[in-house]
Amino acid sequence: MKELFGKAGTLILATLLVGLTMSVAMAQENGVDQATGNTTPKLHKKLVIKRGLSPEAAKCIECHSKKTPGIVESWKKGKMAHASVTCFDCHVVEKSSPMASQCSGIKGSNIYISPMVSSKTCSRCHPQEVEQFLKSGHAKLASFPVVEKKKTLNLMYHLEGGEFAGNSRANSSNMASRAAGCQMCHGGKVELGPDHKPIKNTWPGGVGTRYPDGSIGTCTVCHTRHQFSIEEARKPEACASCHLGPDHPDIEIYMESKHGQIFATQGETWEWDSAPDAWQPGDYTAPTCATCHMSGIGELTTTHNINERLKWDLVHPKSVIRSGERGDGEKGAVLMRKVCANCHGPTQIAKEKNTLDDVVALYNFYWDGVVKMKKDLAAKGLLKKDPWSDGFQEIAYYFWHHAGRRARQGAAMNGPDYAHWHGFFQLFQMYKDLQAIYNYRIKNNKIEELSTVMSTGPL
Ligand code: HEC
Ligand code: HEC
Ligand code: HEC
Ligand code: HEC
Ligand code: HEC
Ligand code: HEC
Ligand code: HEC
Ligand code: HEC
Repeated sequence: MKELFGKAGTLILATLLVGLTMSVAMAQENGVDQATGNTTPKLHKKLVIKRGLSPEAAKCIECHSKKTPGIVESWKKGKMAHASVTCFDCHVVEKSSPMASQCSGIKGSNIYISPMVSSKTCSRCHPQEVEQFLKSGHAKLASFPVVEKKKTLNLMYHLEGGEFAGNSRANSSNMASRAAGCQMCHGGKVELGPDHKPIKNTWPGGVGTRYPDGSIGTCTVCHTRHQFSIEEARKPEACASCHLGPDHPDIEIYMESKHGQIFATQGETWEWDSAPDAWQPGDYTAPTCATCHMSGIGELTTTHNINERLKWDLVHPKSVIRSGERGDGEKGAVLMRKVCANCHGPTQIAKEKNTLDDVVALYNFYWDGVVKMKKDLAAKGLLKKDPWSDGFQEIAYYFWHHAGRRARQGAAMNGPDYAHWHGFFQLFQMYKDLQAIYNYRIKNNKIEELSTVMSTGPL
């Protein structure tokens, strides 16, 4: 099917660019390649297109196919191009928009554009996906630590930005860690200059980007521009650009799980482009990230709210059952088990659920111990004010943020190496180190001079 769509796209463009007035709909109905005269009858079934391209929209494409051919070529490969959703539909804004500017190609006209495109633009045609997305941790909550949270602002600018060592906050380099790091995954807040264009490297950004018109979210993190492919988003690599590394190694966990093994060995033969909610076992033989967290499967329908199928909060220092803005954990547990039930029997499903509950209980047991020791030390004045030069507090951070997440998420997604060697094995060792520092401080009623922890920490 893909090749046919490709051909249709080229045909639509060729038709427009030579200036014929034939509407897109007519080209589809005929299904005749103008150059060869060959008919492509299958097009009749697949493409129902009611909109033609306005001359203004055709102009954007014509000029940009020379000025930015990479963008136009990707766009042409996507399904939206074949439904004649163009640059004009997504980039043109009202003159009154805070983001309105003009590229050199439209200077002096009454058309205004923005290089920034948020989920609000998509919501015109995909209201349900955007509504679900906005309720999820991928929207406002994702940019919260980069935009609002005091502790992490301190981390970004005072510490990583080098302010503590004398690099002024007025220097653009002070923002470099945010612009190259946190913002690219979480999203930040876009700031505009007098020309209505982004300043201070605040754009582009990651999933929860906050736009100057108050809208939130960048859909391109999973459906890369300008193809906006559903196939891409179903593959685990679509999540891997953010869900990796020492503190949330989800792609690593997945690739070592049995599911990842099957994906790696058989994924090439899977059917990736079935229609939404029609992508079912048989198209694939093992789940990807999308299957478990988002896709329609069995009686479940597709959701863009990735919190919907979660029970536990496995990211913060103590794991609790999700509630409020983080989701509904009791309901989430039931939904996730419905995913498994498409391919596993009740005995194994119960085992996996019970194991995760026990893993969370064991981790929480350790964490409560850490918190108790820390409280004791604080009461006796035996904690340094700067946690980053205090061995106890440094290890306590790595305990929950790195090893503790690896143990919990490794168990949740069936990666035994992460649950154990990168997880619980390190947790018990770090707990013993914490006990040793605790005992030393209590016994001597003083804090050791130098931090006992290497700057890179135990990874
Ligand atoms: C379905 C909506 C959609 C269509 C159609 C679309 N774009 Fe985009 N475009 C986006 C989104 C989303 C972004 C990312 C914006 C963000 O991160 O704020 C983007 C970003 C861009 C950027 C800025 C990023 C960069 O790489 O410099 C340019 C330039 C651009 N698009 C040009 C075009 C052109 C030219 C066309 C027509 C061939 C087009 N777009 C069609 C949605 C669209
Ligand atoms: C005659 C050529 C031409 C036409 C027509 C044209 N553009 Fe552009 N566009 C450019 C060029 C060249 C650039 C590079 C920046 C510049 O010169 O302003 C650009 C830049 C852009 C950018 C990126 C702006 C940025 O700040 O990074 C977007 C988005 C864009 N155009 C969208 C459109 C849309 C939408 C249309 C149709 C309404 C359109 N363009 C029509 C030539 C054109
Ligand atoms: C003017 C209406 C319109 C706008 C605006 C729009 N879309 Fe679409 N989109 C469509 C239509 C129509 C289709 C169905 C195309 C088809 O299947 O033939 C579609 C399909 C899609 C698909 C499925 C593609 C596939 O491979 O099956 C994705 C993903 C998508 N859009 C994402 C977006 C995103 C992200 C935005 C905002 C940046 C956006 N759309 C803005 C009309 C729009
Ligand atoms: C490689 C992408 C990436 C980078 C870079 C990154 N994060 Fe994250 N962060 C994530 C992902 C993915 C999660 C969610 C993990 C989970 O749910 O298990 C997360 C979770 C978090 C959380 C916990 C969730 C919450 O909202 O309370 C905070 C806080 C956080 N990150 C802050 C930051 C800050 C601040 C920076 C930069 C100093 C940063 N992150 C850099 C990807 C990233
Ligand atoms: C551009 C980066 C990025 C991509 C790509 C991405 N995520 Fe996330 N994800 C994040 C961040 C950042 C968070 C943390 C949100 C927060 O702060 O609460 C997160 C959180 C999550 C959470 C936990 C939600 C919560 O509230 O705790 C799940 C589940 C999740 N992502 C699944 C996925 C899946 C599945 C994919 C791929 C289909 C994916 N993500 C792609 C950045 C990303
Ligand atoms: C975390 C990754 C991720 C993000 C972010 C994301 N999508 Fe999707 N999207 C997917 C996946 C995965 C599918 C395919 C679900 C399936 O298997 O049917 C999909 C499917 C779609 C479809 C096809 C119809 C449907 O609902 O299944 C549309 C339209 C769409 N997305 C639009 C959007 C829009 C608009 C946004 C921004 C609000 C967005 N997506 C953000 C992962 C993502
Ligand atoms: C077999 C189904 C399955 C697959 C495949 C899967 N997950 Fe998960 N995921 C789960 C389950 C189950 C949990 C724990 C749910 C709970 O809280 O009870 C989880 C938890 C998570 C969390 C932790 C959320 C939190 O509490 O912060 C993130 C993030 C996540 N998954 C992302 C991903 C990514 C990214 C991939 C692909 C690389 C992936 N998942 C693959 C089932 C899956
Ligand atoms: C699309 C089908 C599919 C779905 C959905 C699915 N799995 Fe699997 N799973 C498999 C297959 C196939 C295997 C490989 C069985 C083997 O080892 O021969 C497997 C293996 C496993 C294993 C490794 C142990 C074993 O049996 O070899 C665990 C653990 C597991 N699945 C848990 C889950 C959980 C928990 C869920 C739901 C959150 C889930 N799976 C969803 C297909 C699936």
